[in-house]
Amino acid sequence: MDQDRTPLFDAISEYDERRPAYFRIPGHRFENGIDPKFRERVGDEIFKMDLTETPLTDDLHNASGAIKEAEELAADLWGAEYTHFLVNGSTCGNQTMIITTANHGQKVCIPRNAHKSALMGLIIGGGKPVYIMPQIEEEWGLHGGITPEQAEEMFREHPDCRGLMVVSPTYYGVISDIEGLAEVCHRHGAVLMVDEAHGAHCYFSDRLPKGGIQAGADMCVQSIHKVTGSFTQSSMLHVNSRLVDRAFLEANLHLVQSTSPSYLLMTSLDMARHDMAMRGAEMVDEAFELAHDARAEINMIRGLRCAGKEIEGHAGIYKLDETRLTISAAEIGITGFALKKMLFEEYNVDVELADYRNALAIVTFANRREDLDRLVASLTDIAATYKDGKPLPKASPLPPQPEYVLSPRAAYFGETKPIWWEDAVGHISGEMIAPYPPGIPVIYPGERMSQEVWDYLEEVRLRKGHLHGPADPDLNTLQIIE
Ligand SMILES: Cc1ncc(COP(=O)(O)O)c(C=O)c1O
Repeated sequence: MDQDRTPLFDAISEYDERRPAYFRIPGHRFENGIDPKFRERVGDEIFKMDLTETPLTDDLHNASGAIKEAEELAADLWGAEYTHFLVNGSTCGNQTMIITTANHGQKVCIPRNAHKSALMGLIIGGGKPVYIMPQIEEEWGLHGGITPEQAEEMFREHPDCRGLMVVSPTYYGVISDIEGLAEVCHRHGAVLMVDEAHGAHCYFSDRLPKGGIQAGADMCVQSIHKVTGSFTQSSMLHVNSRLVDRAFLEANLHLVQSTSPSYLLMTSLDMARHDMAMRGAEMVDEAFELAHDARAEINMIRGLRCAGKEIEGHAGIYKLDETRLTISAAEIGITGFALKKMLFEEYNVDVELADYRNALAIVTFANRREDLDRLVASLTDIAATYKDGKPLPKASPLPPQPEYVLSPRAAYFGETKPIWWEDAVGHISGEMIAPYPPGIPVIYPGERMSQEVWDYLEEVRLRKGHLHGPADPDLNTLQIIE
């Protein structure tokens, strides 16, 4: 296909040139109805593109024109049979994959490091989860991958399981053996779903591991906004499978997406696809180089380490996306949380997330060498200041999975009542709780609160970390099922 085409962008531009007298939604009529302060800061052009399903601009929910062509170009670029644009992030893509694969008590295998959107898919569709625990990389305290052997064992126990989801790459760039997993799933007539929210760039450089669709996955969800140049909340769902019921998948997309999808988001997907098609290889190589050099420099700083290819081959880590910089100052007693805070507050360097042992910096093609220089210089300064600190103890990324009592759906819709957080151990949780980022639930609705989960959450609570899920955001109380 001619990847130089930009069908949705062109359709919107053509509509804007016509400038019809406008009597539709949105109410702001191009730039006219926008607050002057906002217009002054942003300029007018972006508001002119915030349109709706006009005769020129197609309809996401029944695409047959500009959006359809834009989706076909994306499918062609990422190697899928077909692609859907998503305006509610990978969150709605994961929900759709899960609902389409398993509903009404059908089994689906979910890794315990899955993003909370997988749980939401179970709640909406009523699928029955079979959990699988990714291996733990002890040295760094990270989740490793899911191995084909684990998948094989899971299917031995649950031959009626209809699909397996994996998160690959993870936030930390950990990639599972997708080819091996696809082979196992397909032998069992099951679907392999890859939450590739962090992996859309992998398809563009030989220096990065293969992308999920390239490696044989049936469905992949990508947050185009996380690693390439589209607006926040815009994602794609790619499908390459005879096992997926396309009509049902499309019906499920209607279930989880707005009937007023943003044309800004969709156009930004069209343009990010165009950019990746035109210069993706060059851009991803540039990101790789920047990360590669920074990693080497960080590893020269006494007391600091940055994870690299040496972690491949352990704990189910098939490959590492080296554009992710997992940085640890644990050797000199600095937690990832403290490191992230110091970097921002004292050096004006903002990294994506932290866990107990590590801070994570995401490097994309849009970073400049100067950004990496600032990161390395700040880390050098921090390491010199704290050089005499005592090493931190090892820690696991998540507490063990608590006891499963009720299905997520039954628990979510069950009768709940609040109890004091101090008294929560031993009770069945009526709610999910996920520290954010990374948004991985440590307890699902319907699971019994264990001492380990309680201790883990108590630490986050005292640190005033963000918690997604609980009705009481400060977690002074927990909703339980009696
Ligand atoms: C692994 C993973 N999957 C899915 C999501 C959800 O993606 P989005 O923010 O595009 O909805 C996230 C978000 O952080 C994520 O980290």
